[in-house]
Amino acid sequence: MNQAAPVPKENQGQPVVRIDGRLKVTGQASYPADIATANVAYGALATSSIARGKVSKLHTDDARAVPGVLDIITYGDMDQTDTPKFGNTGASSIAPLHDKTIFHDGQIIALVVAETFEAAEEASMLIRADYEDEPPSASFDSKGVKVEPAAGKSPMLQEDVKAGDFDAAYASAAVKIDQKYSTPTQHHNPIELFSTTAMWQGDQLTVHEPSQNVTGWKIELARQLKVDPGNVRIVSPYVGGAFGSKGPMTARTAIVAIAARRVGRPVRCVVSRMQAFNTQTYRAETRHRIRIGASKDGRITAFGHEGWEVTSRPDPYVVGGTSATGRMYNYGSVLTHVSVVHADRNTPGYMRSPPETPYVYALENAMDEMAVALGMDPVEFRRINEPEKEPIGGKPFSSRSLVKCYDQAAEAFGWSKRDAAVGSMRDGDWLVGMGCATAIYPTASAPCAARVRLTADGQVRVQCGSHEIGTGVRTIAGQMAAERLGIGMDKISVEMGDSALPPAPVSGGSISTASVCSAVLKACDAVRAKLFAAAVAGDGPLAGSGNAKLEMEQEKIVASGGKSAKLSDVFKAMQIGAIEEYAEFAPKGSTPEALKKLYAGQAEFHGGDQDKDSVKYAFGAEFVEVRVNSYTREIRVPRVVGAFAAGRIMNTRTARSQLMGGMIWGIGQALHEATEIDRRNARYVNRDLQDYLVPVNADIKQVDVILVPEVDLDVNPAGVKGLGELGNVGTAAAVASAVYHATGKRIRDLPIRIDDLI
Ligand code: MOS
Repeated sequence: MNQAAPVPKENQGQPVVRIDGRLKVTGQASYPADIATANVAYGALATSSIARGKVSKLHTDDARAVPGVLDIITYGDMDQTDTPKFGNTGASSIAPLHDKTIFHDGQIIALVVAETFEAAEEASMLIRADYEDEPPSASFDSKGVKVEPAAGKSPMLQEDVKAGDFDAAYASAAVKIDQKYSTPTQHHNPIELFSTTAMWQGDQLTVHEPSQNVTGWKIELARQLKVDPGNVRIVSPYVGGAFGSKGPMTARTAIVAIAARRVGRPVRCVVSRMQAFNTQTYRAETRHRIRIGASKDGRITAFGHEGWEVTSRPDPYVVGGTSATGRMYNYGSVLTHVSVVHADRNTPGYMRSPPETPYVYALENAMDEMAVALGMDPVEFRRINEPEKEPIGGKPFSSRSLVKCYDQAAEAFGWSKRDAAVGSMRDGDWLVGMGCATAIYPTASAPCAARVRLTADGQVRVQCGSHEIGTGVRTIAGQMAAERLGIGMDKISVEMGDSALPPAPVSGGSISTASVCSAVLKACDAVRAKLFAAAVAGDGPLAGSGNAKLEMEQEKIVASGGKSAKLSDVFKAMQIGAIEEYAEFAPKGSTPEALKKLYAGQAEFHGGDQDKDSVKYAFGAEFVEVRVNSYTREIRVPRVVGAFAAGRIMNTRTARSQLMGGMIWGIGQALHEATEIDRRNARYVNRDLQDYLVPVNADIKQVDVILVPEVDLDVNPAGVKGLGELGNVGTAAAVASAVYHATGKRIRDLPIRIDDLI
């Protein structure tokens, strides 16, 4: 694989290396479960062995008899706390130790606390429960599931979008398809396991836990524990794999906090990989029906997208990706409907590009089928259906460089060498297939605060309660300060991942770079304003340059006339040693309560399809080559090329890394990833990394990322569109289309397996 970072083009920042890269690869970065603390006790969860029913009796005597066991937190012990809530901050309303009802397999029934990890584990396995159990409903088609319309039930789907008269347009279309697609359950498997370390000092509670939302969790944990949020601190300086899995707070956090208070010692609970499948969130399985109608010359006149998603009994979690698929092309008419299917399962949650990954997969696989039905090149088919305005509300796109992405990716991939005839391209024993698909992700930002301090010797400290979840945002925030203040990266430090810092929104929805950079930019500009005023004042080193345009570079203030002053001299004139500025950024269109909500841990998102003036999305085009062995049907992906346009690129190295990782995940979704469910007991079966397949190095060959220049100052002051979730949207459809091109088999249910091609 080519490891070079892309050379910056227009509106693209330098490929600065990660400021925490060395710490991470040398093991010096301290993850939340690494925090050294004296006198720590260990927690281990005991979980249910049924998926539906009630605990009638819990037997804990054998567990209590294990040497070293200090306490067991179970039914009754959480009565003084408030129950978890389902929403943007809380993963689920299922309140495991408040209520003996069992909603899903592997539900927490107790937390054992012991002197050692081994004692806690052993004791947790000796806890036995008697149940009144009922037959569970596992998923789609199970008896007893409850199906209802999803719109308005979840913050992620306000309404079923529609436009024009779909029924009439579809009925009269010259060429049409009507197909069903599905995506499987997928589980988060970050290398850093889920963990909580809770410690009290008097009334002050500090929780070390990997989190994408330290401010939100501080408020939510305080609510559950009925304590003052000022007494709660969440610390999460590094996160080893997030992708949504560490976004919502789960029930465990409060349980471990209560345990720590009871035993009067810090308690650390690291959840086993197997238990994480049931106690954390996951991507639920989805089903889709897509109808597309078009004229003979390939103009789409009707687009219908119906989706079905599985969730738990009590919580209407739904992703509803029709908001994006319904705005993708110039459809003429649109009809969408999303249904939610309540089963005996834990509540799903965010997983990288939650709405777009399954819904755009279905759309883009269908687009390829439609191109085949029309006898048209799939790139050309998308090109002629490129919209002037989005079809639902008729709003303009703030910017849309999709065609440029297709042009550049097709050129780099060598699409023109593709022989369109199915099964026509061969290399020895291998059938060669080529496919493509569109990537789309909404561009949003949310209120964010930051503090920037510049000292006379040119040291900069940036503080922001955002989260380094592996994206490089710590480095990028530093780059923004370095650029605005004219300071080298070696003199910049950035603190993140602590609720004691200025609050930032949840690091989800690909909003962090835009939100954090906009706040850092604002704080830096306040620092600059003070320095500039002092520099040109009567007794300042640039006295008389009041009308000049001033810039900061190389620790100097430089006037447009050519005069300059050293930073240290300006500080000397000001008779101070440091300037510190605190800034609060709120996106255009924010409500008067937006900043108050930031401090209350509720991010007010702006952008995407929500703004009045325009819709805001980042786009990409992905091309995939597959090889299918003509004897064994083994499927390989030797080559992927993606071209993406996402406004200002802060750092071409970290951007490429995000997009490359996204496409690799997309290959995994196409060919590997699926949680298998034993439908008899609603149980996840492959709960480990041996049986839960993800791509390894041998599965991935060449992955090329092209960063297409784009300028869009409508999206936010930093001009940044998020791209963390863009890369894995569309990839699976491109693979499915390439498999069709190679073999003539259209696979609509993911993942695509050897068996499907026999
Ligand atoms: Mo992301 S799935 O919005 O953390």
